[in-house]
Amino acid sequence: MKKLYFGSNLKMYKNVHDTMEYLTKLQELTADLDRSRYEMFIIPSFTSLYCASEKIDQNLIRLGAQNMCWEDQGQFTGEISPLMLKELNLQIMELGHSERRHVFGETDQWMNLKVKAALSHGFTALLCIGETDEQKEYGISDEVLRTQLKIGFYGVSPENIGNIWVAYEPVWAIGVNGKPATPEYAQEKHHVIRECLAEIFGEKGREIPVLYGGSVNPGNSNQLIVLPDVDGLFVGRAAWDAEKFNVLIRDAIETYNNQ
Ligand code: 13P
Repeated sequence: MKKLYFGSNLKMYKNVHDTMEYLTKLQELTADLDRSRYEMFIIPSFTSLYCASEKIDQNLIRLGAQNMCWEDQGQFTGEISPLMLKELNLQIMELGHSERRHVFGETDQWMNLKVKAALSHGFTALLCIGETDEQKEYGISDEVLRTQLKIGFYGVSPENIGNIWVAYEPVWAIGVNGKPATPEYAQEKHHVIRECLAEIFGEKGREIPVLYGGSVNPGNSNQLIVLPDVDGLFVGRAAWDAEKFNVLIRDAIETYNNQ
């Protein structure tokens, strides 16, 4: 049986107090889930990371950062170094979230530098990819996804496969104005991604977990988790209440196990 991944990006929400309350409750509620089968991770704001890394058991909930500079140090005002994040014992580095690409103009070439830097510092690199509404309209979604993967992982050795995760997050599906992808569409694109990972890394590339994100909610999570090329759910709004996220995860696991 494949491993399932459940995680959330807290984006620019929750102060330190609220993040700690949320993480503590989520850790408690989900403590019984077998982590060898169900991987859980949360990616809070930078300001909450220190406290979270001190208090949260990363054997239960892995912690990650939402962004990172590719350089260890230097004249990069406003950036955070991999060494600074390593100091907090973080395990996951989220790179290329749609909001980083489309609000802050981050490029595929930067992603490549960041992926390589994250891997060289021992993080799991979680590369987010996804097409915009306009690119979907033009019928170039597959080309866009393949480009993001091929540039993002350019020059990355297959030895790193165990430390790579991919999140497919169609830009048009994310956030308050997003429409979730249909299960059929999600499966089709996850398949394209899996094939491309095999092309980049060889057959072992198929083992890279590919998570779906973008308006995941209790109404679609059970349909998404059973898709053959979906390894997990990367959730925003529907995960930010610990009790509701716990219910969503348990429902998804039950649906998956009963299929
Ligand atoms: P929503 O689930 O709120 O659409 O956000 C998804 C996301 O951006 C996860 O990284």
